[in-house]
Amino acid sequence: MRRAVISGWGRCVPPTVLSNADLEGMMDTSDEWITVRSGIKERRISHVEPSEMAAVAGSHALAAAGLGIEDIDLIILASCTSDSVVPATAAHVHRLLEAPVATAAFDLNANCSGFVYSLITASKMIESGMYSRVLVVAAERLSALIDFTDRSTAVLFGDAAGAVVLEPTEEEYGLLSGCMQMDSSALTYLEVTEDGLHRMPERHMEDAYGGIAMNGREVFRRAVVAMGDLSVRAVTAAGLDLDDVDLLIPHQANIRIIDATARRLKLPAHKVYTNIHAYGNTSAATIPVALTEALEQGYISPGSHVVFAAFGGGLTAAAAMMRWGERTEPLERSDAVLAPTERSLMELLDANFQVYGFPEKLK
Ligand code: ACO
Repeated sequence: MRRAVISGWGRCVPPTVLSNADLEGMMDTSDEWITVRSGIKERRISHVEPSEMAAVAGSHALAAAGLGIEDIDLIILASCTSDSVVPATAAHVHRLLEAPVATAAFDLNANCSGFVYSLITASKMIESGMYSRVLVVAAERLSALIDFTDRSTAVLFGDAAGAVVLEPTEEEYGLLSGCMQMDSSALTYLEVTEDGLHRMPERHMEDAYGGIAMNGREVFRRAVVAMGDLSVRAVTAAGLDLDDVDLLIPHQANIRIIDATARRLKLPAHKVYTNIHAYGNTSAATIPVALTEALEQGYISPGSHVVFAAFGGGLTAAAAMMRWGERTEPLERSDAVLAPTERSLMELLDANFQVYGFPEKLK
């Protein structure tokens, strides 16, 4: 049976760090509150558009697979923070990677579930024989949507990109199962109300810009149920048991959501990969970034059973079960890096302050 296996992987995390101490200097919060409630210590703030992070992560993934961009049939760009709506961000990534016209590209927006949605979509296209090699990139610049006057959301989000290359195999490796869902009854629990077409003139309101607005408790409750249930469905659909899971790579939104999901699945801590302390919630990018680190740190061996589980705005949720292939080392390495920046953290955040208002301690 033809399956899709991950043959390359890469990430791009921008260099500028926003720490809990920095946030303490801006608003009424504390390192202790943020650490205990979310598990986050610091996050990255990008000085470039999502497409530039995507191109760097994509270059690393292509090198790890030993492929050039001309070998890729399709690029799927998972993001909810697009460079532009027209053209799609995938077009910018296509241009930056110098992809040929024959390489198709599109955006897929399933919010924080975008990478797992894309992984499943790409795998099914490969299984069907339609395409052979697909580059899936998740790139997010959530910092652009942070309202630093709202401490309940400002401490949670950051920027990053992660990418994988998928190729066909006839071996017993690759994506074994995947499931996706959308609970639109909870649509208003997580939204950016004044974004996109809401900015059209006829809808223009006096205070036209709003950042991320969230009912944290409701999202929390539904995330634990959805990630747990879909993970079980994915494992069962693969004909396996929870005991067979070697590693869970969950969406990194809150360490308490991850811990509660692991408890539902009865998975010990060493079978759950977390890096939320270092990057916060980078939406669709959390899982591919975590995957690259898990590989580097030896969490994944040939044949490992890896479950990816995510939830996000919509509320979307998705899980996929993967049996890892024979290779856990990159074939080649890329020297792709972001263009450096001279701008300080506060200079990068100034656009947020101008749009959404200054945080209380900087007024
Ligand atoms: N620092 C200090 N205190 C704070 C902060 C802060 N940064 N933020 C809120 N508080 C206060 C609140 O005002 C409240 O005070 P009160 O009791 O005097 O009213 C108190 O802390 C408790 O607030 P809660 O919102 O009840 O705190 P909770 O324990 O629920 O944690 C959190 C909040 C971290 C947001 C949690 O609900 C959560 O993680 N929810 C899920 C969020 C998530 O995963 N979102 C996914 C986004 S995915 C996507 O698609 C973008």
